[in-house]
Amino acid sequence: MDRIFSGIQPTGNLHLGNYLGAVRNWVRLQNDYECIFCIVDLHAITVPQDPAELRRTTREVAATYIAAGINPNSAVIFNQSTVSGHAELSWLLSCITPLGWLNRMTQFKDKAGKNRESVGLGLYAYPVLMAADILLYKATHVPVGEDQKQHLELARDIAIAFNRQFGEDFFPLPEPQILGTATRVMSLRDGTKKMSKSDISDYSRINLTDDAETIDLKIRKAKTDPDALPESVEGLGSRPEAANLLGIYAALTDASLGETVSRFAGVDFSRFKKDLAELAVTVLGPIAAERARLLAAPDHIDTILRHGAERANAIAAPNIAHVKELVGFLSP
Ligand code: TRP
Repeated sequence: MDRIFSGIQPTGNLHLGNYLGAVRNWVRLQNDYECIFCIVDLHAITVPQDPAELRRTTREVAATYIAAGINPNSAVIFNQSTVSGHAELSWLLSCITPLGWLNRMTQFKDKAGKNRESVGLGLYAYPVLMAADILLYKATHVPVGEDQKQHLELARDIAIAFNRQFGEDFFPLPEPQILGTATRVMSLRDGTKKMSKSDISDYSRINLTDDAETIDLKIRKAKTDPDALPESVEGLGSRPEAANLLGIYAALTDASLGETVSRFAGVDFSRFKKDLAELAVTVLGPIAAERARLLAAPDHIDTILRHGAERANAIAAPNIAHVKELVGFLSP
């Protein structure tokens, strides 16, 4: 059976972009695939994290997965550090990954910026760990946002390199799944920038913790241009903010962008924003409520994560044992 692996870092608050671009799509995949949804805490520490905060956000991401509709009895939900195979395979793969491949990674260049000499080795090796996450389970499909496509291509290249060196067809080549209208939800303050947990302005994003009033206010204050909404999708060409808000509406109603543009053709922004805010509150409100309910019982979340780790490890352990044997490690 085809197997999916994906993950989100437990850093900061999850927002609408994470929901529409990732978690909501996962919910829809869980019946058709064997799914492993990870909370990638090993990736989180590639930049400094506060330990107490990391524990809190790890539970928060788990609660969000479940509140959004991922069923922990069928999908495997766990945090990465509890399955030692991730770190082990990451080391083995790092030994067959040429530096030249890592030097091409645009996310490292963006994140390291001018601090190339002072950021940790882990930030540089991040894409190798991501390849290990996927290959450890011999996952065949990986739902990710646009921004992770380059990392996934690297994972495929690493799999090919390993197979060539140690055994044809050991790792299946993972396919990216880029899903949905709003895989790329942009900032509410700048339609050319991705909605991000690290943006300094909280008005740039809708957090999955925002209450109805906050959602309404953020959408009302979202950047727009002075014109009414266009009659056709082509009319969105040079209007990134209009395109983003209409894209969000389309995704939240499961409509195409074309249908949504026709629906609001010629409407002014203030009326459209009212509709959008109402819709966002209707969709996100129940998720936020369920998430809060789950977080009130952290022991229950920990039990789910522990159970997930056992199931993940049951898949990972024979694979890592086989890799070690292929590489030539003696296991007396
Ligand atoms: N790098 C991904 C992100 O930031 C998270 C991630 C880590 C991931 N390991 C993964 C996604 C494996 C898919 C598969 O979004």
